[in-house]
Amino acid sequence: MVLLGVNVDHVATVRQARKTFEPDPVAAANLAILGGADGITIHLREDRRHIQDRDLRILREVVPCELNLEMAATDEMINIAIMTKPEMVTIVPEKRQELTTEGGLNVIELKEHLKEAVKKIKDAGILVSLFINPSRADIECSKEIGVDMIEIHTGYYSDSRGKTQIDELMRIKDAVSYSVSLGLLTNAGHGLNYFNVKPIASISGLRALYIGHSIISRAVLVGIERAVREMKELIKEAYLNV
Ligand code: PXP
Repeated sequence: MVLLGVNVDHVATVRQARKTFEPDPVAAANLAILGGADGITIHLREDRRHIQDRDLRILREVVPCELNLEMAATDEMINIAIMTKPEMVTIVPEKRQELTTEGGLNVIELKEHLKEAVKKIKDAGILVSLFINPSRADIECSKEIGVDMIEIHTGYYSDSRGKTQIDELMRIKDAVSYSVSLGLLTNAGHGLNYFNVKPIASISGLRALYIGHSIISRAVLVGIERAVREMKELIKEAYLNV
């Protein structure tokens, strides 16, 4: 069965909206693991818009399974990864203006830069993955760069419907089998939700799926009734004690 890595960035997004202590992505990560997550993913962005350095530090201490650090291939992030030693690093493209990671890395254009970055991270004993589009040329190039793994971008599949979505699924299937045939550990993620995950989860050869937004969105909704009930309880207790 394909593994599930849960991305807790959006818990930090809510916290940073108020720059307070809650909700803590560390607590969310522990609960995700209790729920069966095989790993925890966080994206430490250059602008620190959600995950903070403190989150990475504590998560490194408390996550007993796979900690996957998504990051841009900058000197700052490479140094942080080498110091913190997550089990794996996924290199992603990063633009300040974007709402989320918008596409796979342009591995062909960035080949030499990525080779250097990947070597530094691998030399520290960390597995390295590249987030790429489902393209044979990009997979071949990733292999030449020397990574252990790739993560295939499922965002175009997730955003499309009907015939286009079936075509995207075929592209992903072809990419997975090609990547596996080259000996790369092969992951997938982005935009996967409770309605579109099954066709992807059933692709043979896939190692792990990385899912964030849909799980955190559902957590808000399934948790809201209990959260309100608990607040009402406190208000009622105060009222009865007056
Ligand atoms: N994989 C990568 C490389 C990502 O950048 C993200 C988003 O942070 C995800 C997976 C998870 O995407 P989503 O939040 O849409 O499930």
